[in-house]
Amino acid sequence: MVQAASSVAVQASPASNQTGYRSFRLGSFGFSRDEYFVHIAWQANGQKLSHTISADAFLRAMMRDVAWGFFYGWVNFDPVIGTRNLYGKVEFYAGKYHPSYKGKGLDLCETFDSREIMATFKAILDDWTNEGFDPFAAPDETGKGWLGKKNGNNRAAIERERQACKRMPGLPGDAELRSDSNGYPVNRAFADVAQDEPEIKAEPGFEGQLHAFNLFKYLSRSDVTWNPSVSSVLERSLCCPTTEEYILPIKHGNDRVEWFVQLSDEIEWEIENKNTGAPRAKVIMKPGDVAAMPADIRHQGYSKKRSMLLVWENATPELPQLYESGKLKPYPVEF
Ligand code: PHB
Ligand code: FE
Repeated sequence: MVQAASSVAVQASPASNQTGYRSFRLGSFGFSRDEYFVHIAWQANGQKLSHTISADAFLRAMMRDVAWGFFYGWVNFDPVIGTRNLYGKVEFYAGKYHPSYKGKGLDLCETFDSREIMATFKAILDDWTNEGFDPFAAPDETGKGWLGKKNGNNRAAIERERQACKRMPGLPGDAELRSDSNGYPVNRAFADVAQDEPEIKAEPGFEGQLHAFNLFKYLSRSDVTWNPSVSSVLERSLCCPTTEEYILPIKHGNDRVEWFVQLSDEIEWEIENKNTGAPRAKVIMKPGDVAAMPADIRHQGYSKKRSMLLVWENATPELPQLYESGKLKPYPVEF
């Protein structure tokens, strides 16, 4: 047993002599990794089962689950394993949303207190992320450190805290988050993004209360991919812009409708049935396109060049229940 930072007990075995990585237990699930792969083990229907994922894909997915506090609804690491957020509790499952496993009774789902699963996930991420590998970075921008035997760690990357502003960036007292000097260089993919700022003319008496900044300039400096930041909050309405390159590391199963506004470049979305993973639609979003992602799907995005996307979330706590009970249709508009 090792003690995680949050003081919830984490079940971990000593580091393996061959690879240097520890193995972990979460309920009756086992987690181990070797030079290339992560293996998840469980038992169902009297059988021992094991599922294998490439270690880089696993670390990228787990990084999102940890950073987003299990997000809205389902975070599928791949078609077999994932988590479902019950807000206070979290399910970890293998095969539950995969028709072949489910059909043969070879699936397993266990429910954990959010703090317990978070402490275990953080301990796994910490032990299995080697020096030089940043699970938030685009593959072209991080090393091959995820490969091979255990070699150091990258706590600076995996413990990256969201920067919170006290006021709108640019207004007096916004702390260190000024949009024009946030210290990050313009990303190589956004070298052509204009860096000018809007001109602000406040009515007399409103100086210091009105501000505007260039969101494209701001996003052009993002050093992470597939990690929406909450850039404005109006009651339950959250505007979460993000920069995307390569593959969204999870297949997100919505528990509510969410809107996408493609701000630049192009993302290809694969949309599947939430419960079975059966293909449902392919959506290619170009600049200016707007899509409502229904509440009964899972989706994964592909962005061949770094692009800018606005994810618009409705954080109303009752929504999952309203969709699940059928009181709300899974889509927002009837054509
Ligand atoms: C989503 O699952 O809706 C999602 C998550 C992260 C992103 C974009 C979309 O960066
Ligand atoms: Fe989503």
